[in-house]
Amino acid sequence: MRILAVGVATIDIINLVERYPPEDSEVRAIERRIRRGGNAANSLVVLSQLGHNCSCCGVIAGAPDSAHILDDLARFDIETRYLVRDPAADNPTSYITLSRQSGSRSIVHLRCLREYDDGDFSAVDLSGFDWVHFEGRNPLKLKHMLGRLASQPQIGVSLEVEKPRQGIEALFSLPALVMFSSGYARHRGYHEGKSFLHHIRNDLAPGAVATCAWGEHGAWGIDSKGNVAHAAAELPKTLVETLGAGDVFNAAAIHTVSAGLNITEVLRRACRLAGRKCGQRGFDGLNDE
Ligand code: FRU
Repeated sequence: MRILAVGVATIDIINLVERYPPEDSEVRAIERRIRRGGNAANSLVVLSQLGHNCSCCGVIAGAPDSAHILDDLARFDIETRYLVRDPAADNPTSYITLSRQSGSRSIVHLRCLREYDDGDFSAVDLSGFDWVHFEGRNPLKLKHMLGRLASQPQIGVSLEVEKPRQGIEALFSLPALVMFSSGYARHRGYHEGKSFLHHIRNDLAPGAVATCAWGEHGAWGIDSKGNVAHAAAELPKTLVETLGAGDVFNAAAIHTVSAGLNITEVLRRACRLAGRKCGQRGFDGLNDE
C-alpha cells in the first residue's frame, strides 16, 4: 500500500539510567542516545518494514538537526516530499529518561514548531495514496483534512487518539480505523478498554474499527459489527525499551486492518509486534507482524 502519515517527527535525546531518579536528585546516565522519534514517523518506519510505500507529512525545522530526522527516514525508504519546512523554528525535542530497571520511560517534550494545517494538506496529491494516517492533534484543522478524504472513499483513513485535545471527539466519526491510547480512555474515566470502546462505539463511522492498547494489559478492539475482542500483551522476559511501543502497535493495526483481518487477529498481531519492540532498542527489524 502507499501510505501517507501526517504527524510529528522529533529528535529524541534518550538518557538511560539504572532506575528512575527521585525529584531533586542527581544521578549518572549510563548512556545517551540521540534518535529520530515522533509517533507518525515511528509508525511509518514499521509500516515501511512491513512492505508498504511510505511518505511522511508534517512540519520540520530547517535547522541542521533536521538532517538527523531526514537521514533516518531515508534509511527506511520513507519519502519526505510533503514535509513542510519552518526555517526559523527548532525541531520538537523529547528529553527522555529511560529506566534500565523497568524499561519504562518518562518524556519531557519541548515543542516550538507550528502545527501542520489544512492549508499545507491541500498541496498533497491524494491520488498517490491508498491509506492516510493522522496523529490526533490540532482537531479543528484536522477536521478539514479528514473532510477532504471523505470524498475519496477508495482511500483508507486512520486516526491516532493519544492525548485528550479539545474537540477531538468530533473527529471519531470520520476514519475507518481509530486507535485510542489507554491515557485517553482513562481521561474519559475508564479503567479498561472494553467498556470504553462500548461507550464510544456510536461515535464511530458505520463500519469503522477501533482499538485501545493498554500496555501490559494487552489491547481491546471493536469491529464494524460492534464485537469487542481482547488480546493479551506479549512482553519479552526483559523489558528493554517501551518507548514507541504504542506507535508499533498502531503500525501493525493499520497493516492488518487494511489487509481485512478480523479484529481478534488484528489485536493479536499488533500486541505481538509491540511486545517484540519492548525487547529491543529502536525500531529496526520489526518486519513481520
Ligand atoms: C514515542 C514518541 C517519541 C517522541 C514522543 C512524542 O511514542 O513518538 O519518539 O519523542 O513520543 O510525544
